Amino acid sequence: MEKIAMIGVGYVGLVSGTGLADFGNEVICIDIDEEKIKKLENNILPIYEPGLLDIVKRNVEKGRLTFTTDLDKSIKESDVIFLAVPTPSGKNGEVDLSYVFNVIDKLAKIIVSYKVIVTKSTVEVGTGDKIHERLIAKGVSENMFDVVSNPEFLREGSAVRDFMHPDRVVIGTDSQKAIDFMKEIYRSLYLLETPVVVTDIRTAEMIKYASNAFLATKISFINEVANICERVGANVQVVAKAMGLDGRISSKFLHAGPGFGGSCFPKDTLALTKMAEKAGTKATIVEAVIDVNEKQKMRIVEKLLKFLPDLKGKTIGLLGLAFKPNTDDVRDAPALTVIKEILVKGGQIKAYDPEAMNEMRKHYPEISYVASSKDAIKDVDALIILTEWNEFRNMNLDYIKSIMKNPIMIDSRNIYDPQIVIREGFQYDCIGRSIR
Ligand SMILES: NC(=O)c1ccc[n+]([C@@H]2O[C@H](COP(=O)([O-])OP(=O)(O)OC[C@H]3O[C@@H](n4cnc5c(N)ncnc54)[C@H](O)[C@@H]3O)[C@@H](O)[C@H]2O)c1
Repeated sequence: MEKIAMIGVGYVGLVSGTGLADFGNEVICIDIDEEKIKKLENNILPIYEPGLLDIVKRNVEKGRLTFTTDLDKSIKESDVIFLAVPTPSGKNGEVDLSYVFNVIDKLAKIIVSYKVIVTKSTVEVGTGDKIHERLIAKGVSENMFDVVSNPEFLREGSAVRDFMHPDRVVIGTDSQKAIDFMKEIYRSLYLLETPVVVTDIRTAEMIKYASNAFLATKISFINEVANICERVGANVQVVAKAMGLDGRISSKFLHAGPGFGGSCFPKDTLALTKMAEKAGTKATIVEAVIDVNEKQKMRIVEKLLKFLPDLKGKTIGLLGLAFKPNTDDVRDAPALTVIKEILVKGGQIKAYDPEAMNEMRKHYPEISYVASSKDAIKDVDALIILTEWNEFRNMNLDYIKSIMKNPIMIDSRNIYDPQIVIREGFQYDCIGRSIR
């Protein structure tokens, strides 16, 4: 059992901190956001993540998981310090490491005994080395710390399962002492025979970017195929299914839709292109992936305009705002682009999402948020399905047609059968399935 400080209690910090406590470690989660910490102390989660609350409660009750804003005390009491602070896109799309270095500068003043400093945040390749140099420059002696890269691969919406049963754990460091600490922390996973990749720190940092960029590539690839399918009269869902049956390809991340969003793929693909540029080379494929993705989000609006060329005075119902189901995260969600474009073109919006309305309200307080899918559909001139929450999958088409002003449906997640919707009398469009 190790004593761990988890700095940053967002999606990654909260899930990882809780998961590490569940593995038997003693974890103190630290955040600068006092309100968030207060909520957590009262068993209120600041994010929506299925299954998380029960595990938080269980570990708090067992005394293995605590929450605080007191960095100094937590660091003094811990052997291993995880950084799970944001690394957003900064200037020109390069990763902004200011949150990471801000924490490192604070640590430099606190560290008086040996610590393993672990980046769980997604950081530019070379950041581990920079952290090392920075701590030395600030007077921390070399034998007082080691730096490890331990990237996180969890997916929001299934984060608990992903953390507890990862496909692999990556540990990047050149210190055997740090490797021993990390192996002890993840001992439960060793017992489950989870593959552990131990490598140097730069390779570990690159594994995270390469993995995310590859998954994003699959999405943009299938979206491009979808667009070709529409023109040549093929069905992208069947194409993807048959492709996915090939074990070399796999069916995962082959769902055509409105483009990828979320807190990782957009910023990590962009950061990889910038890293390549800085290193004097070019990430040509990843640049194309980003370009295809931006165009894909716009295609949803183009599909709407095909049915309603003038949006002035028109009300559009949006079902789904989160970048995917089972999360309240709207960071870089396709919904942001769709909302912006509809408003610019003079349209009005009624939106419903089971979990993400509070988050979207921070970006677009001016649109109307309603309490149910029925309210979002009633009296609208067109309906766009943007997130495939289960509750949108099986709506009574006859009924929704009867309460809409115009029966127009854009199904950006391909959750309805075109033949059935059109037979019900809708004007309907979707992604990559030709409508005849
Ligand atoms: N969200 C994901 O699915 C995911 C998956 C894998 C990796 N990552 C990476 O993990 C990192 C964190 O992402 P996230 O989505 O959890 O971010 P987040 O924005 O949800 O949470 C970050 C937290 O850090 C806190 N924070 C900021 N500065 C701090 C400081 N100085 N001291 C203490 N707390 C501080 C913030 O208040 C916030 O609560 C990023 O690098 C991201 O790329 C995210």
